[in-house]
Amino acid sequence: MRKPVFAANWKMHNGPQDTRAFLQRFLAAYAPRDDRTVIFFPTAVSLAVAGFALRDRQDIPLGIQNIHWEDKGAFTGENSAPMARDCGASIALVGHSERRQNFGETDEMTAKKCAAAARAGLAPILCVGERAEERDRGTTLPVVLRQVKTGLGRLEKSQIPSIAIAYEPVWAIGTGKTARPEDATLVHAAIRRYLREVISARADDVPLIYGGSVTADNTAELLAASEVDGLLVGGASLDVDTWTRIVST
Ligand code: PGA
Repeated sequence: MRKPVFAANWKMHNGPQDTRAFLQRFLAAYAPRDDRTVIFFPTAVSLAVAGFALRDRQDIPLGIQNIHWEDKGAFTGENSAPMARDCGASIALVGHSERRQNFGETDEMTAKKCAAAARAGLAPILCVGERAEERDRGTTLPVVLRQVKTGLGRLEKSQIPSIAIAYEPVWAIGTGKTARPEDATLVHAAIRRYLREVISARADDVPLIYGGSVTADNTAELLAASEVDGLLVGGASLDVDTWTRIVST
């Protein structure tokens, strides 16, 4: 069965020195457990430091927050999946709504990035989620399913069981407004149904993770919701004590 996933998305916080200090404290507080997966997504400049700090903790995979879809080339400021691998990453976030909203990332770009991640041996976590106005129009499911369908469109069927999907309603990210557990369940169940159409029973291997204003206080309730296999946490992952509390729930 799927183990709960606790993923820390540090966004543009924690440079190399803060990353080293955070992980030192966290590793001292959090002993390896095989009933859950804890993942860190530091900023790209802190990836190598994190990879080094986590070198003896096979239980804690490392991920990059964003990759380019090419493996190398004239793309100033970008990072590729093979480079992330080289730093010790095994996962790539793809299509976070901040990438979509602030950097013009389209569904088609997320598809190319998912394919690039898989090609380099990184497991993509495809982020999807509707904006407030889309929710108000009642179009949450069509929007999310379009993002999932297009985002996975360039993967081989055999690659899909190794991915994860993060449902993060845009209106819930960094706003203190969390989706109700039953609303997360509704969207996750629709994603699961779609995955079953594509890869049958292997759909059950794909963790469906919720993100958006997760705190230490709402972790248990969200994790208890049907079809919620884990949490992608921004703000509340930046404090070692809070994060340790969340992953120990
Ligand atoms: P938040 O961010 O927990 O700060 O809402 C979640 C995310 O963007 O992944």
